[in-house]
Amino acid sequence: MAIDLRSDTVTLPSPRMREAMARAEVGDDVFGEDPTINALEALVAERTGKDAALFVASGTMGNLSSLLAHAQRGQEVILGDESHIYHYEAGGASALGGLVFHPVATRDDGVMPAAAIAAALRPRADWLAPPGVICLENTHNRCSGAVMSPDDFAAIGELARANRLPVHLDGARLFNASVAMGLPLRAWTDHVTSVQVCLSKGLAAPVGSLVAGPRDFVARARRVRKMLGGGMRQAGVLAAAGLVALEEMVDRLAEDHANARWLASGLARLPGVVLDANRAVTNIVVFGLAAGLDSAAFVNALRQEGVLIIDLGRGRLRAVTHYGITADDCRAALAACERTLARMTPGPRLGTESANHVR
Ligand SMILES: Cc1ncc(COP(=O)(O)O)c(C=O)c1O
Repeated sequence: MAIDLRSDTVTLPSPRMREAMARAEVGDDVFGEDPTINALEALVAERTGKDAALFVASGTMGNLSSLLAHAQRGQEVILGDESHIYHYEAGGASALGGLVFHPVATRDDGVMPAAAIAAALRPRADWLAPPGVICLENTHNRCSGAVMSPDDFAAIGELARANRLPVHLDGARLFNASVAMGLPLRAWTDHVTSVQVCLSKGLAAPVGSLVAGPRDFVARARRVRKMLGGGMRQAGVLAAAGLVALEEMVDRLAEDHANARWLASGLARLPGVVLDANRAVTNIVVFGLAAGLDSAAFVNALRQEGVLIIDLGRGRLRAVTHYGITADDCRAALAACERTLARMTPGPRLGTESANHVR
């Protein structure tokens, strides 16, 4: 079987999740009558320190419902130029909500500094699109799973309050940040208005995310969810897996982080790989290849070796560790990378410099 490092979204539900799904008590969630969903929403509201939470089909639906609940047509969404919402959510907030994306430069360490956000806030004028919401992402997918610090969040929270703006956190992998830093979710969520957390990534549930925030915000997000076709009726069968994810799958993320760190330090030593291993602090390893080595060809050749990774474009490759990937799998994957690179890198020739100069 392939060693699939493309994403933690490929995780399969655990046997305990399947049992819980089979036994789940359910009801009509559009009427608010699914006890399993209600329990999951209450648990996430408590963990994030918010009034209420809402179960949605996906991270994308959670982010979109949140943005449409926060901002009005013609208002700007201030967000990172490397963020998932900007790159990979089909422009939904613009297409469906009439919101305008205002991307802000993201540092390599995944941080969008408060000063950069402050500079992006346009003054009130008839000819300018006013800011409607600020979006953050933690951990940061395209920036090697970087963790943004609670202090950075506090500074942005203060800026937002001073400007009477809501802050939405795309916390698809906020549990990874929490485990990596040994801090509760509230270390970050106390500084934002709303948060979206995914159950279907490293926590290995088959489906689902939650949006949490103030009661009136969640009521608006619930209405948007319905509008988007996301009122799922007896979806307690899915929420049951989510409850197991929260009870049993959070602490084990430390194993994924250790595997990612090991893989990153091994990759960093391979000739032809460009990688700062210190960047890998959670479960995502982003790396490049030295000039002259073709990323797409590397991904294809690695696939022939039974190892799957993703090409993020602009010369960046991504490998993600997760439930179902063992330390042995990481060893096998690293060996496959080494063999593949050795085939792609011309060997040393007599009288010429070693090909290792591409290190
Ligand atoms: C940071 C981030 N936000 C949001 C999403 C969207 O989640 P979903 O695939 O459930 O729509 C993803 C998915 O990988 C993600 O990495």
